[in-house]
Amino acid sequence: MSKPTVLVTRKWPSEVEEELKAKYDVTLNEKDVPMSIPELQAAFQNYDCVCPTVTDPINAEVLSVENKKAKIIASFGVGFNHIDLDAAKKENLVVTNTPEVLTDCTADIAMTLLLSAARRTSEGERELRAGKWAGWRPTHLRGTQVTGKTLGCIGFGRIAQATADRAHFGFGMKIIFSDPYMPSDEVINKYNATPCSSVEEVLEKADFVSIHCPGGESTYHLMNKERIGMMKKGAYLINSARGDVIDNDALIEALKNKTIAGAGLDVFEGEPELNPGFLDCENAVLLPHLGSASTETRIAMGMRVLENMEAYYSDKEPGDRVA
Ligand code: DGY
Repeated sequence: MSKPTVLVTRKWPSEVEEELKAKYDVTLNEKDVPMSIPELQAAFQNYDCVCPTVTDPINAEVLSVENKKAKIIASFGVGFNHIDLDAAKKENLVVTNTPEVLTDCTADIAMTLLLSAARRTSEGERELRAGKWAGWRPTHLRGTQVTGKTLGCIGFGRIAQATADRAHFGFGMKIIFSDPYMPSDEVINKYNATPCSSVEEVLEKADFVSIHCPGGESTYHLMNKERIGMMKKGAYLINSARGDVIDNDALIEALKNKTIAGAGLDVFEGEPELNPGFLDCENAVLLPHLGSASTETRIAMGMRVLENMEAYYSDKEPGDRVA
């Protein structure tokens, strides 16, 4: 029997690409150039399986293309707000993602952002590189102490819990959270965490607010001007989830007016374009969507895609099916 044909939309770690080559009739994206809508549509017409990643717009326009051959979308990444799941279901497409394998790596970045924003490490490095360091002095670049402060998680799924683990056991932080789905008592007790009845309650109490909810319509601009205004004046906003959960213009205004102390951001509205307003905010730590960017994790994500494909092509239910 001939091997299924597979299209991979971006360059993947070579270890994973080798496995793909051994098992499938695969077309790789060696040059790593993002694909256009017509190219994605053609992929759905010409391949049995399409393997996109979190930046490919797999929307209704792409999925409703005529004469589709594809039966499965095996996505590289845990987030799936780039895929129109309703359209995929309508077109009888199976959709999978790659949860769990990037949890620790992303929690590491959330803590990196939190610590960097609080301790002004980006400002310090910019000063040093610009040759402007005038030496140690008692009032130089004083930041905010992290140890013992309150971390408020908006969303308390796997990545939030891994962040809470680091914050609570590593930095003695008190954990509060809001989530429409209440975690088990075991999870709550593990971090001695306090559930809040609303996002607003978290905002009023937390010294550090960390976003851990999924992206998409239901969370679009959840952190709008009004809610950012509910944060404590000395608080920090951390985002390692999706950029459009925060109204970026409203955040820039708050950072410039110092109505909050700072922000640590790994994701942005409209990325990879960056709202130029952020460049004037010394109190913002900005990273280019590095949450899962360790060699080990990116390989594990690719291998997880392969596991899902293998299940699908052995007539089993893929472990990470989201549609
Ligand atoms: C994901 O997998 O959704 C991340 O954003 C990529 O790190």
